[in-house]
Amino acid sequence: MWGNLSVAALDRLYFGREDAERDVTDGLLRAGFLPTAAFRAALSGRKMLIIGRKGSGKSAICMRLMEDGAHAGGALLITPDDAAGDEIRRFELQGLAADTAKSLIWRYVFAVHAARHLTAHAKAAHGRKEPDSVKALRRFLKQNDEEGVEAVDAPGGRLGDRLTQSARGLQTSLSLEAFGVRAAMDLVPQGSEGARAARQLELVEHGVARAFADLGCADAHAPLLLLVDQLEQVWSAEADSNSMVIGLLLAAKHAAGAYGRALRCLLFLRSDIYDSLSFGEGDKFRGDEVRIAWTESALRELARTRAQASVGDALGGADLDDTRLWQEIFPPSVAGEPTPTYLFARSLPRPRDAIQFLNLCRDTAADQCHDRIEETDVLQATRQFSEWKLKDLVQEYLIAHPFLERLYPLFQNTGYTVTRGVLGNRLEAAAPTLRRLFPGYVDSLDLTGVLDTLFAVGFLGVRRGNDVVYGGGGELPVQPHEGEFHVHPCFREALGATSPIDLRRYEPAVVASRISSGNMGYAHFQSRALGVREYDLLEQVGRSCRSVLGQVGRAVGLGHDVRDEIAEQVGRVLADATDAQNRLRHDEFVDVGDHVLTVAGYFNTLAAQLLASGLDDALGTDGVAYRIDDEARRLRRLAGGASGSTGGSHL
Ligand SMILES: Nc1ncnc2c1ncn2[C@@H]1O[C@H](COP(=O)(O)OP(=O)(O)OP(=O)(O)O)[C@@H](O)[C@H]1O
Ligand SMILES: [Mg+2]
Repeated sequence: MWGNLSVAALDRLYFGREDAERDVTDGLLRAGFLPTAAFRAALSGRKMLIIGRKGSGKSAICMRLMEDGAHAGGALLITPDDAAGDEIRRFELQGLAADTAKSLIWRYVFAVHAARHLTAHAKAAHGRKEPDSVKALRRFLKQNDEEGVEAVDAPGGRLGDRLTQSARGLQTSLSLEAFGVRAAMDLVPQGSEGARAARQLELVEHGVARAFADLGCADAHAPLLLLVDQLEQVWSAEADSNSMVIGLLLAAKHAAGAYGRALRCLLFLRSDIYDSLSFGEGDKFRGDEVRIAWTESALRELARTRAQASVGDALGGADLDDTRLWQEIFPPSVAGEPTPTYLFARSLPRPRDAIQFLNLCRDTAADQCHDRIEETDVLQATRQFSEWKLKDLVQEYLIAHPFLERLYPLFQNTGYTVTRGVLGNRLEAAAPTLRRLFPGYVDSLDLTGVLDTLFAVGFLGVRRGNDVVYGGGGELPVQPHEGEFHVHPCFREALGATSPIDLRRYEPAVVASRISSGNMGYAHFQSRALGVREYDLLEQVGRSCRSVLGQVGRAVGLGHDVRDEIAEQVGRVLADATDAQNRLRHDEFVDVGDHVLTVAGYFNTLAAQLLASGLDDALGTDGVAYRIDDEARRLRRLAGGASGSTGGSHL
């Protein structure tokens, strides 16, 4: 099987670009677009707000809809550049609340885009004689200097420049002669700036709606889509930024009423932005929301499609199926887990992360001149990827949670499982510095606030029953009674938190000096007699281990990875004792007293670390820590006879 894969396969293997804008031109988005549930909801018109984290595939949906022929009714992409963002944020109208004022400028942007589209669309799609309403739109655009198709083609285009003009027009007066109105001033003579702008806008919208109606667009073909993406480029945590987004939502909702089935707005919003909005009308948008979600199997399919598209004919036309990708190109397993499970557990569930991780595995293998990706390549890539993601998370939330990076030390070089209590203590130590650095965020920096934030950004998961639930995709937030948290596997390597709990590793106690008994004389007989007692003593170590393991098995309050970790260490103690017994059996010298006291000492440390972790919540005699301590006491007693000797003494 291996032979079928030429070196060329790995050479050509490529999972694409990390952002949809470039992926569609020189990557694999065209060949490998997956129609997700969010995409279908957007296309069908059931949903208007497509919400997703950074890198979840918002722009990919836009790019897909913008492709020729992908959407019959046509699509226009609006991506505000800095200038446009500035203009919208600054836009105010005397007499109107900020949100409403911002919604007017967005509505105007929509109307002008639609008008511009219609002047070209009328001939191209409806052919026959152009209705007067379309001619009126053309005149309107000309008189207000809003014509020109190039801005539509160039994403972002000159939207900023145009907006400056549009804003002035709305605030003062537009030329509305095309719609049979002489001067805007005549419309609402005594009205406020806001009332006048609203009235002018209604006329423009009405003009556009009439053209849609005259052409019969709503019945003849699918609606025109207005896509608004990359709002995060112009977003900050300031109030006017919030108004800008709220205004956009209001405008999109308004458009649904103003243009009926002829036009639809689709807004692509970062979840951190959308979730930070608060406004009275917020509840009216719940039904319009769809959140982009990715499952492991969808990401697997994404990986396969892209691998297939890139390797393609290096396989001689054969299909690159799942098995081939995950058994032959990638190693079948990594660290004892099937490779896809390993990879997707260690990245946040979004395509950008998957693409980065997969490309990194490939590149690492290529650097090592391997002809397929080996387990060591994946392990090395895991470390690098973890470091990237830790940094990227800071960038992703720089605006919403600028203090994020300062919380990392709370999780560095310890176990990845942490309780509310322990985290509280660690936070308390860091709190004065945090408050000094981020005086504006004091409210978010108490324990509840920190847990909420770290859960929401997907850094921490919370233990729920036997599962650990990671946030980041609209899960139920952390509840007050929930007490155990896990750092997401994606970040563990970079934080040096790769084991569930900070337990000292058990090191074998036996320093076997191979003192062979040599002859079969008296000495041998003596050592044999001594050997029986020593053998029994080691048997007691084994008994202690089994008793602890039994208790660990019953400790349902402990997470399974913590239990595994304790069991692993105790297992090492047990194996070491068995080993020592074997040596005794072969007449080798074993300092059994030392051995048993070492185990007792180790057990004490283990119990202390377990208690310090706060994870062992079964208090009193049911606790694992209690049992371990108890066994330590018992072993010490046995080893030292009745003398109560300490770890330093010998038999
Ligand atoms: N449905 C999909 N099918 C195939 N590839 C996808 C899909 N969705 C996203 N991708 C790919 O995932 C990567 C990230 O997607 P995209 O750039 O659309 O994210 P985004 O949500 O716009 O992120 P940002 O908020 O940073 O702009 C891109 O390479 C894109 O091509
Ligand atoms: Mg994007």
